[in-house]
Amino acid sequence: MRQTLVAGNWKLNGSLESVSELLAGITEQIPTVGATEVAVCPPFVYLQHAGQLLQDTGIALGAQDCSDQAEGAYTGEVSPAMIREFGCTYVIIGHSERRHIYGESDALVAAKFERAQEHSLIPILCVGETLEEREGGQTEAVIARQLDAVLTRSGIEGFDNAVIAYEPVWAIGTGKTATPQQAQQVHAFARDRLSRQDEGIAGGIRILYGGSMKPENAGALLQENDIDGGLIGGASLKAEDFVAIAASGT
Ligand code: 13P
Repeated sequence: MRQTLVAGNWKLNGSLESVSELLAGITEQIPTVGATEVAVCPPFVYLQHAGQLLQDTGIALGAQDCSDQAEGAYTGEVSPAMIREFGCTYVIIGHSERRHIYGESDALVAAKFERAQEHSLIPILCVGETLEEREGGQTEAVIARQLDAVLTRSGIEGFDNAVIAYEPVWAIGTGKTATPQQAQQVHAFARDRLSRQDEGIAGGIRILYGGSMKPENAGALLQENDIDGGLIGGASLKAEDFVAIAASGT
């Protein structure tokens, strides 16, 4: 049985004050979410502050990205070891905004995934197709290519302690959500791709859905067999909505 994971990706939002307010709201209400694992991913500079506020709450901390390099002359980068030192369990890797706005290649994403695991972080590997790719019948080919880049570099063992997030690019921040059936189809495809190499690892890995997930649609999405949680953007910035989504996963 896979434990549901609901993770908030705050993206480029927040201030010291709003981080305090949001986490106060979430931690106040969180006992109602039961068996679901909950994580928040603030911008790097708020990790320490958030980590202090989350102490003894059972809510995990994650970063939104990390460097593919361990240390050295890489101005502006933040290493997995640094993230780990500030109490992170998870790190989002290959978010579509990194891939499409900042040009991260499949190869760079695979290198980050490997480096994160070397430093005991659990990568949340994001995959997903654009609208053009979906309309062109390319959805499965895109997901396969993005997964295979990591499989080639880290092997199937790399997925033994990792999370996948299916985030259709056309559903991110647009208010358009994949239907539960559309999402389930892609999740099943991703799991099947891994199961060709190891059924146990494929059966155990959590595959989250991300893309305009909100309290009104979370329940139906989370009921699908292969949807094991959510990676929430906009709705994770409102304590009430985020907690309601987490509660619908139990
Ligand atoms: P929204 O929930 O705002 O669509 O964002 C999804 C996302 O990108 C989470 O990583």
